[in-house]
Amino acid sequence: MTSESINLTTALSAFDALWSPRIVTRVNDYDVRIAKVAGEHIWHAHDDTDEFFLVLDGELRIALREEGGERTVTLPAGSVFVVPRGVEHKPSSQAGAAILMFEPTGTPTVGDRHEPVPARIDNTTGHVLGGPASG
Ligand code: NI
Repeated sequence: MTSESINLTTALSAFDALWSPRIVTRVNDYDVRIAKVAGEHIWHAHDDTDEFFLVLDGELRIALREEGGERTVTLPAGSVFVVPRGVEHKPSSQAGAAILMFEPTGTPTVGDRHEPVPARIDNTTGHVLGGPASG
């Protein structure tokens, strides 16, 4: 956490890695994370927490496996969406997007249950912005 203001455009320009969130600040025991995404993430579920998404740029899709079946929500820039705890979901973006997530510190990006994690997906609880994992 910092006492300085954080410009999200500047923060996003500080890294290029896809599906590799950076922690921009914390609120109580929650992280505010930003990520650049393109292509598909993997099916996964967070058993103990909801997951908040805000689309900063581009368009994000989130496929959901709900009781009634599977559906996909389309989120243009400026949209927010919450994936409820326990619901399997798979974010994707054909053309690429920048997103902000709000979730408890320590929440792994691939959830508690997930498909095998391919190399293009970073299995992380978030990296420090500007830290050694930036790139
Ligand atoms: Ni998730």
